[in-house]
Amino acid sequence: MAARAAVATTDRYASEVGFRVLRRGGNAVDAAVASAFALAVVNPEAGNLGGGGFLVVRRPAGSLLALDFRSQAPGAAYRAMYTRPGVERSEASLLGHLSAAVPGSVAGLWEAHRKLGSTAWSELVEPAVRLARGFRVRERFARSFPAGIVEGLRRFPHSASVFLPERSGGRPARPRTGRLFCQPELARTLERIRNRGADGFYRGETARYIVEEMRSGGGIITHADLESYTSVWREPVCSRYGSHSVVSVPPSSSGGITLALSFQIAAALGLAREEWHGAGHIHLLAETWRRAYADRNHHLGDPAFVEVPVHGLVDPGYARDRARTIAREAATPSAEVGPGNPAATGGRHTTHLSVIDPAGGAASLTTTLNTWYGSKLTVPGAGFLLNNEMDDFTVEPGTPNSFGLVQGEANAIAPGKRMLSMMTPTIVLNPSGGLHMVVGTPGGATIVTTVFQIISNVLDHGMTLAEAVVAPRVHHQHLPDRIAYEPGGLRRRAREALGALGHRLHEEEESWGDVQAIAVLPDGSLRAVSDPRRGGTALGF
Ligand code: GLY
Repeated sequence: MAARAAVATTDRYASEVGFRVLRRGGNAVDAAVASAFALAVVNPEAGNLGGGGFLVVRRPAGSLLALDFRSQAPGAAYRAMYTRPGVERSEASLLGHLSAAVPGSVAGLWEAHRKLGSTAWSELVEPAVRLARGFRVRERFARSFPAGIVEGLRRFPHSASVFLPERSGGRPARPRTGRLFCQPELARTLERIRNRGADGFYRGETARYIVEEMRSGGGIITHADLESYTSVWREPVCSRYGSHSVVSVPPSSSGGITLALSFQIAAALGLAREEWHGAGHIHLLAETWRRAYADRNHHLGDPAFVEVPVHGLVDPGYARDRARTIAREAATPSAEVGPGNPAATGGRHTTHLSVIDPAGGAASLTTTLNTWYGSKLTVPGAGFLLNNEMDDFTVEPGTPNSFGLVQGEANAIAPGKRMLSMMTPTIVLNPSGGLHMVVGTPGGATIVTTVFQIISNVLDHGMTLAEAVVAPRVHHQHLPDRIAYEPGGLRRRAREALGALGHRLHEEEESWGDVQAIAVLPDGSLRAVSDPRRGGTALGF
């Protein structure tokens, strides 16, 4: 609970950094930038210098902005780079040098600060420098090393030396809770960024380390790729849901459009009238998302390369047409649900943070390396992990990516193109245009459905923000054709009724998402919630 300002991130250290920036009078963007740099140190499985992301901002006077700092394909990338003979398709787009795209994070944070920041840049990076010199390992970080991740990191000696500092059975092993975890190379990289801004990353010593590693390991990122990378300010995607407005990011993320289309279909179906987590509610959610994801997978890609029918897809009339294809008494097999025809008018592995400042400014920022610890490749000399974002492209039409998404032509690989993301940093406005909620989550393909459920739980089902975040989640993404639910998260009666409607159900082994959200209550006070599923922290004053 907070009176004026709050920050929620996936890690306590990072939340404390943002909190102190706000306390000293920094605005929401300052706090978001400082927390994001801190996450690159203390949440290295997802927080990053070597990845990319998206930011949505509401300025205190009400204007809304979206910044795209998505990673992008190197200039030497080409369509069949993972399907040509001799390439191990299942690995090349996910592990090591060739899986890495040109990072966008530092450019994005630099640009967000240049345009909207009010605190000196060096003050925002300095806390991350200090954390990189050493922080005590807490449970959340120690738990970010499942066996498959440790195996991946062991494939790269430099990654093992940085992230697996202990020994187990004579082999490098994960950090232990309570130990001091030091990243001296990363500290020096952050010092260069602190002193020189984005040039401290994209030019000079840091860039040389990246390019040298690419050359020695068969990667393709060049100095020209790094020097030419820029983040892009874009028009946010705004849609109505009841009397509220939902504001999120446009392509190169699919998040905002898929979320907006889902809300429009839900509104046409009268989803809010259904009993929460009754069979009718889950059925309509699944049918809504089945269609929204079919559209996402077919129509969306980097707008610099493909014509994206943004306005058509979020048009309520189009959503009503999509809703008319939904039967209340039976599931529609995904095989029978193709993309619609909108008018052409127009990684459970990521990390999110939300901030509201005392002046009513808000920042919603999602950033990613793609899967945990990205490519597993740490740049020697520079001490940070590179992403494996290339796997978010349509590597092979008809073949699922690591999130099971089966994508289309619009998202094919091309030099300089941004791979389609699911990231959905979102801001919800109340009927008079004031701030109501800041929300986002990691979770790969589940990001949109998770953000949808948080907002719908609050607006449609009267839950408090904490109840909305804690509530069990369901998910459908067109293919695979099934309703996924969190362990124990769906009552037997609902499961039986959904089976009778023709749905396939799949209980996941683990819960998903790591929602960081803040709500403004009618009296103006704040409630900030960090998802209990993984162990982040919300702070405020
Ligand atoms: N790599 C996860 C996403 O961008 O959706």
